[in-house]
Amino acid sequence: MATSERPSDRVDFERPSIARVSDALMGGQDHYAADRAVLQQILDIAPDSPAMAQEVRQWLVRAVRYLTERLGVDQFLDLGSGFPTVENTHRVAQKYDPEARVVYVDNDPVVQAHGRALLVDNDYTHISGNDLLRPAETLADVRRFIDLERPVGLVLCAVVHHITDLHQAQQVVKSYVGALAPGSYLVLLHHHNPDDGTEAATVAASLQDRFGRTGLDTHYRSRAEIASFFDGLDLLEPGLTAPHEWWPDGPRLAPLTPVNRTSLCGVARIPQALSRRTQ
Ligand SMILES: C[S@@+](CC[C@H](N)C(=O)[O-])C[C@H]1O[C@@H](n2cnc3c(N)ncnc32)[C@H](O)[C@@H]1O
Repeated sequence: MATSERPSDRVDFERPSIARVSDALMGGQDHYAADRAVLQQILDIAPDSPAMAQEVRQWLVRAVRYLTERLGVDQFLDLGSGFPTVENTHRVAQKYDPEARVVYVDNDPVVQAHGRALLVDNDYTHISGNDLLRPAETLADVRRFIDLERPVGLVLCAVVHHITDLHQAQQVVKSYVGALAPGSYLVLLHHHNPDDGTEAATVAASLQDRFGRTGLDTHYRSRAEIASFFDGLDLLEPGLTAPHEWWPDGPRLAPLTPVNRTSLCGVARIPQALSRRTQ
């Protein structure tokens, strides 16, 4: 991009973007009519999707808090981060360690523009516009801000399901995992189709179909497929669960609905044997 070009010069606001649809789901401000049209279609299928988006964010908060506060992780690489507005990785990590370094990677130009403006006064947080499907380039950039010789919290929250081909998705995750130091952690959440005849399976299939029609491909994979992203890693308790089941903060007050069963998440330690294999 030429330096005089603004990110908004190459944004087509007539087409929805998954970053802005996600922001609309979270109750944020960074979305347009095309994004809200997709949001409405999601709500027609699963009216509780905004509550589920909050559940996902609360899981991320608990996972990052655990890594920072309990395990002393002080560097995070958040790939496909979305807008760093609502309680996000840097806010949580820097609450427990004000000098924790966070690199956000997101190739949506609106996310980059808003992110840079929001983070201008934060010396410990950087936003990069790299394509996460190009791990070598992304990691070369990331190295300028975090030390890959020390443990890193690698966050892939609600993004790997946008990679259509399962093998490519597995290779992308492996490339990042393999580049990190032993004692790093993978924090991953992925949309899930339980494929068990339940209402959750119907909702997952309908959402996948609807997202596909809007050009925002989103794959609701099986438990075994999602588990494959953690192959060779030491999955922490309670394992691969729905977000509300991963160390909840207290008793559940809101009722569960089918959409609560359409994501699986986990946190895993990267052991010595796996790290550095792609370098
Ligand atoms: C569904 S949103 C999830 C955002 C955030 N992680 C969360 O949990 O709220 C997926 C994000 O991944 C970003 N994304 C998708 N493909 C990407 C790619 N190839 N490289 C970088 N970012 C990507 C999108 O721009 C979007 O912001």
